[in-house]
Amino acid sequence: MSGRVFITQPIPEPGPSLIRAAADDVVANTEDRVLSAAELREKVVGCDAVLCLLTDPIDASVLEAAAASGCRVFSNMAVGYNNVDVSAATRLGILVTNTPGVLTEATADLTWALILAVARRVVEGDHEMRSGRFPGWGPLYMLGGDVSGRTLGLVGPGRIATAVAERARGFGMPLLYHGRRDSPTLDALGAKKVPLETLLAESDFVSLHVPLNQETRHLIDARALARMKPTAYLINTARGPVVDEAALVEALRAGRIAGAGLDVYEDEPKMASGLAACANAVLLPHLGSATHATRGAMSRIAAENLVAVLEGRRPAHPVNPEVWKGAGTPG
Ligand code: DGY
Repeated sequence: MSGRVFITQPIPEPGPSLIRAAADDVVANTEDRVLSAAELREKVVGCDAVLCLLTDPIDASVLEAAAASGCRVFSNMAVGYNNVDVSAATRLGILVTNTPGVLTEATADLTWALILAVARRVVEGDHEMRSGRFPGWGPLYMLGGDVSGRTLGLVGPGRIATAVAERARGFGMPLLYHGRRDSPTLDALGAKKVPLETLLAESDFVSLHVPLNQETRHLIDARALARMKPTAYLINTARGPVVDEAALVEALRAGRIAGAGLDVYEDEPKMASGLAACANAVLLPHLGSATHATRGAMSRIAAENLVAVLEGRRPAHPVNPEVWKGAGTPG
């Protein structure tokens, strides 16, 4: 088996070793930065397969440059693949793969870190201590919101939402969810499927777990935020553009909602003007899957998807399976 592979950014093991064991020629970008579309267009020429990351702009021009020399697969080391123009890939006969499942628990854990941190003012409290501003215990000092027994609304009924819901059982939280399809697993956990408007109006915590696409871009806009209770919190560990970040800053500033816990931003790595000054927001730098074991598992699955295609086998996690033409190679 032969093949030339390009890895767009430094990634953890075991992915690079698995790929090196299977491919003739592996070129790995060693610069710890995201390459531009123009740079990627040059690098992918002559490659049979590319391993890319969620920050890489894999647009139609990059895919066309790769397709021109017979590239068969772009293996995205992420569950989300909004960075890849999948319809262009499908048109060009390039398979796109992702890494679902292995980051579910880590992302659900981090969602819970945000829920607890924003409601109980954990980060603000830490700043009080470090800055020497703690005046001593007081009956009115740094009061926050309750978590136990409060209603958790999950937008999107997928794996991560389900893992968040499982953890919520320990907090005795009534559960609501919204999605296009029913989730028997969420139903079995006692969650009630409701329209988005109802979820927004009734939840004390609104947690986002939808992929980014045309339907979900700015799903949470000024109108949606206005439907939330003034005591409610918005949690986003999905994708930044699902929330209209400027509208969120306005809502946080005006106290229209109690707070937000964010791991993702509309224009990463930047964030909307004014967000940093909102004390009622807990802001993390896209850490959902950032554990050693999870990133290792993502690396392994991304490599396995890629190697499968190089070897003429159907990969485990195709995003556009219609490209796969059976026992041989993609389209
Ligand atoms: C993903 O894989 O889509 C996550 O956002 C990574 O943290």
